[in-house]
Amino acid sequence: MPRSLSRRSVTGGLGAATLASPFFTFEGARAQGALLTRPIPHGNGETLPMIGLGTAVVFNVGTKPEERAGPTAVVRALVEGGATLVDTAPSYGQAQIVVGDILAATKLRPRAFVSTKLEEYRPGGEAAETRAALQQLQTDKVDLLQLHNVNKADQDMGGVNALKAQGLCRYTGISTTFERAYDAVEAVVKRAKPDFLEIDYAIDNRKAEDRLLPAALDSGTAVLVALPFGRGRLFRTALGKKLPEWASEFDCASWAQFFLKFVLGHPAITAAIPGTKQADHMIDNLGAARGRLPDAKQRARMIQYLETLN
Ligand SMILES: NC(=O)c1ccc[n+]([C@@H]2O[C@H](COP(=O)([O-])OP(=O)(O)OC[C@H]3O[C@@H](n4cnc5c(N)ncnc54)[C@H](OP(=O)(O)O)[C@@H]3O)[C@@H](O)[C@H]2O)c1
Repeated sequence: MPRSLSRRSVTGGLGAATLASPFFTFEGARAQGALLTRPIPHGNGETLPMIGLGTAVVFNVGTKPEERAGPTAVVRALVEGGATLVDTAPSYGQAQIVVGDILAATKLRPRAFVSTKLEEYRPGGEAAETRAALQQLQTDKVDLLQLHNVNKADQDMGGVNALKAQGLCRYTGISTTFERAYDAVEAVVKRAKPDFLEIDYAIDNRKAEDRLLPAALDSGTAVLVALPFGRGRLFRTALGKKLPEWASEFDCASWAQFFLKFVLGHPAITAAIPGTKQADHMIDNLGAARGRLPDAKQRARMIQYLETLN
């Protein structure tokens, strides 16, 4: 994404001068107060800050210092801003290795909630894949281990739950971002009641609301929102458009916060994991988990407004 577009979307029409304000510094972000959290339903009272970080694509970089500088600053911004959740997968190119290296180099592993995924889950194969992931992440336990891209209604979670029992992860879950797999995923959520479901959901991609999010609420399954910006598509829709005045009613100061607060406003959502390689974007995104969230009426108005931009 061109730098100019990113900058514009950070300010959400507030003007470039806003970037120099304390709001867009670590200190300024901290001064905004604690992040909103939601409980992990199976977590015995444990809560998660409602914004985390996705690392697909953006953390798939090499080993040169100049390639690692952006991702490292993003992870620092995440933790400095009071958040914890970093989501990765072995299939995101080098991302899982980069996450492991950064958490080790910054010594931030104890302050992070690390989520990764199993790609080729099959009886007997999960343990080897998990140990490889732990090695890359330079940790002896991840916080969340999810079956990636589940697409079978009878998907068994016994293997991954056995890894939890062995202490290799704290929570287990499933993920998909394919609508054709939603029926299967719904069946697994209802039957296996996983700790977590990671699903694509965005203001212009609301299919998950029909049955998956209600099923997750019923099963006590925490929900992580993948692709909250539709891989950046939403910023292209909003390019050059002014944030509506009434966005201040729910403490929204940028387009990124507009899109994120929309998903966080749904009661089934535990946290969103927008991807970014830019620390100022990370700080902007964390702002979505501060102040008020839109209620149902405001969320309907947000959808209507976005539709006028198309
Ligand atoms: N099946 C699965 O389980 C599955 C599948 C896909 C994705 N995921 C998860 O979902 C995460 C998010 O997906 P994603 O990163 O592909 O898409 P996304 O979060 O919807 O969008 C990322 C894009 O938004 C831009 N962006 C981020 N913050 C911004 C801001 N404040 N202002 C302007 N632009 C901003 C990023 O550019 P900059 O880098 O320039 O900020 C990037 O181009 C992934 O990283 C992954 O963890 C899971």
